[in-house]
Amino acid sequence: MQGKVVVITGATSGIGQVAAERLAGMGARMVLVARDKGRGEAALARLRARAPGAAHSIHYADLSRLAEMKRVAAEIAAAEPRIDALINNAGALFSSRHVTEDRLELTFALNHMAYFLLTHGLRERLLASAPARVVNTASDAHKRANLDLDDLQSANGYSGFKAYGRSKLANILFTRDLARRLAGTGVTANCLHPGFVATRFGDQSGGFVSYAIRFWKKMFAISSEEGAETLVHLASAPEVANVSGAYFYKCRPATPTKEAQDDAAAQRLWIESAKLARMED
Ligand SMILES: NC(=O)c1ccc[n+]([C@@H]2O[C@H](COP(=O)([O-])OP(=O)(O)OC[C@H]3O[C@@H](n4cnc5c(N)ncnc54)[C@H](OP(=O)(O)O)[C@@H]3O)[C@@H](O)[C@H]2O)c1
Repeated sequence: MQGKVVVITGATSGIGQVAAERLAGMGARMVLVARDKGRGEAALARLRARAPGAAHSIHYADLSRLAEMKRVAAEIAAAEPRIDALINNAGALFSSRHVTEDRLELTFALNHMAYFLLTHGLRERLLASAPARVVNTASDAHKRANLDLDDLQSANGYSGFKAYGRSKLANILFTRDLARRLAGTGVTANCLHPGFVATRFGDQSGGFVSYAIRFWKKMFAISSEEGAETLVHLASAPEVANVSGAYFYKCRPATPTKEAQDDAAAQRLWIESAKLARMED
């Protein structure tokens, strides 16, 4: 990873934080996208302490807002002539339904639309830097989900777990269609399940959901160090340089559900997402 440029979201905490520090330790120059100044500066300071040789940098954006997703992608594209890897990782689960200023359900906006728009905004830089990689943090939570293309905003019978599972299914479908669209360009796209990891995940979900996740984390979760392994593997390992469109768990290809392998649904999701983002396909 010496001299490579890696853009990563959600690196102020949990899996993303550990992955960013590891990749920096391997010689990569990290470009962080964070929403909170205090947490962002702390993450940057840790990176500089870990790997002082590289000019790591940070950009601020609330990745639940379309305008911010587009602005930060444009800002990074202007600042970075080459990008060797993009890691879409910021995500959360919300126990009650919130609608953003773009009239998008918050889980869908943050967990799916930010992956979609950041990738779109950095696409030219990735293509110009090929071989390059896109890595999307998905989850086995997709296993309990169906994608309702007529209700992407979970307006009917919202549940936090259901909306979260659906957003993680969207991550896998997005990865598949992205890989198809990038075939032959030298840019790969893969996604992963990190395991059930004791991060800050769930702490801000609210209500009983936060309580339940905190309890389960104490009982069953692996550490952020273990949880980051597949992310680091997909962003850096030579063995996966030519693999694209796959779902990984424990650094190995895994089989997602039948719904997550539905290429027609993946293409429809892409088209709907482009419409919602008010951009050309
Ligand atoms: N933990 C698990 O068991 C598990 C399992 C499967 C998949 N995942 C996935 O792993 C990814 C990372 O989660 P984690 O477990 O490491 O959780 P985490 O510790 O809560 O980290 C989430 C990261 O996302 C950032 N973020 C949240 N909302 C944001 C927003 N509106 N704009 C910009 N950044 C935002 C957070 O920033 P702040 O520091 O400012 O809060 C933080 O850096 C997520 O996609 C999650 O769905 C987690």
